[in-house]
Amino acid sequence: MITEMAAASTSSNLHSLSFLLLLLVALSEATMLNITNRCSYTVWPAALPIGGGVQLNPGKTWALNVSGLTSRGRLWARTGCSFDSRGNGSCQTGDCGGVLACKGHGRPPNTMAEFIIGQFNSTDFFDMSFVDGFNVPMDFLPVPAQGRTGCSKGPSCAANVTSQCPSELKAPGGCNNACTVFKQDRYCCTGNAAYNCVPTKYSMFFNQMCPDVYVDSMDTDWNKTFTCPLGTNYQIVFCPQINLTTSPGTGSSSSKGRIGLILDLIDKNSDDMQAHEQDAIQMMKLAMWCLQIDCKRRPKMSEVVMVLEGTMYAESNIDHNFVATNQATFGIPGSVTSSVPPLASHVSGPR
Ligand SMILES: *[C@@H]1O[C@H](CO)[C@@H](O)[C@H](O)[C@H]1NC(C)=O
Ligand SMILES: *[C@@H]1O[C@H](CO)[C@@H](O)[C@H](O)[C@H]1NC(C)=O
Ligand SMILES: *[C@@H]1O[C@H](CO)[C@@H](O)[C@H](O)[C@H]1NC(C)=O
Ligand SMILES: *[C@@H]1O[C@H](CO)[C@@H](O)[C@H](O)[C@H]1NC(C)=O
Ligand SMILES: *[C@@H]1O[C@H](CO)[C@@H](O)[C@H](O)[C@H]1NC(C)=O
Ligand SMILES: *[C@@H]1O[C@H](CO)[C@@H](O)[C@H](O)[C@H]1NC(C)=O
Ligand SMILES: *[C@@H]1O[C@H](CO)[C@@H](O)[C@H](O)[C@H]1NC(C)=O
Repeated sequence: MITEMAAASTSSNLHSLSFLLLLLVALSEATMLNITNRCSYTVWPAALPIGGGVQLNPGKTWALNVSGLTSRGRLWARTGCSFDSRGNGSCQTGDCGGVLACKGHGRPPNTMAEFIIGQFNSTDFFDMSFVDGFNVPMDFLPVPAQGRTGCSKGPSCAANVTSQCPSELKAPGGCNNACTVFKQDRYCCTGNAAYNCVPTKYSMFFNQMCPDVYVDSMDTDWNKTFTCPLGTNYQIVFCPQINLTTSPGTGSSSSKGRIGLILDLIDKNSDDMQAHEQDAIQMMKLAMWCLQIDCKRRPKMSEVVMVLEGTMYAESNIDHNFVATNQATFGIPGSVTSSVPPLASHVSGPR
């Protein structure tokens, strides 16, 4: 950048003028990164090299100005923290040397967002990564500046990876990357595995849970890096609600499309059902969750209570393989091989 500027000013005044104009445009348009906590619990987001870290209570937003961040920035979630009035303390996940305002990276596991603002041809690059594992569901979406179109997509990981985490990778408050746990080349894509890193059952697990998110540092799926023009603002949401109105097949992950199918179960002729659509969907999702053939994937009673109280969303990442509820097949796992949602009568009773 600096050499470009020097070259411009010596070769031609016109060039330096247009460069100055570009610089002014870039400066006047602050790039805002808003971080919103939709979890039922407090999260302590941390950001480098701009931001440090704050406490973010449920429902609150942290607005961060990341203008001109041409080197790689990162933002991650911390949970289970306690800090004294001077900002000293610790976190269960994502801790950065025991301080509220981070100066160094977070301890795994933590879900991480990465971004570069206005680099190469005035483009922003952004992605999400499981390189340090997972602790909080998150999505990272662009909010295009007014009157601009062309970039509306970003990585999303609404699934609760912790609840499905293989036991070897489980950590208090999250799910570790296999590299963190085993420190072996084949999981870290280092050494002999650096340029031919083959998928492992662990990288496949993370990919299946959240296909938009990088799993290891050698992951070369460019589809996971998103771009937007400089001037775009961004929104990071912890515990995003899955967009229930997305129609089947349009979601980036199959779970979104399947949830669209649930909408078809809502009685179009019932005003009451229409008026309480979201509640009805939550109840059907809860029913489907409770009817999982794999009993290990069914909710705990405490989770059922939380969904009923509205303090937690029903798990969306479920097997579409349900215990049949009609008399003839009741209690015979395996007799149902359906890959579509259950019949309306199975989850909402006879009408
Ligand atoms: C954002 O940061 C840029 C560069 O540091 C600054 O020029 C701008 O005034 C800031 N904008 C806001 C809204 O804080
Ligand atoms: C970010 O948050 C600030 C302050 O709450 C708000 O003024 C702004 O509109 C938000 N920006 C986006 C892109 O959501
Ligand atoms: C707590 O914070 C203060 C001021 O930031 C610092 O000087 C001190 O070393 C910290 N104490 C501990 C135990 O980390
Ligand atoms: C730079 O951006 C412009 C406008 O978006 C585009 O037309 C052009 O192809 C880009 N150039 C390169 C080298 O990517
Ligand atoms: C995810 O699952 C874990 C373990 O089942 C649970 O403790 C945690 O509260 C869940 N998080 C969310 C956001 O639902
Ligand atoms: C990237 O996306 C395109 C179009 O959706 C697809 O054809 C391609 O296989 C994807 N690449 C990888 C590496 O997944
Ligand atoms: C959900 O998705 C639909 C269709 O893609 C879109 O029109 C709607 O604005 C989205 N709703 C939310 C809350 O994101």
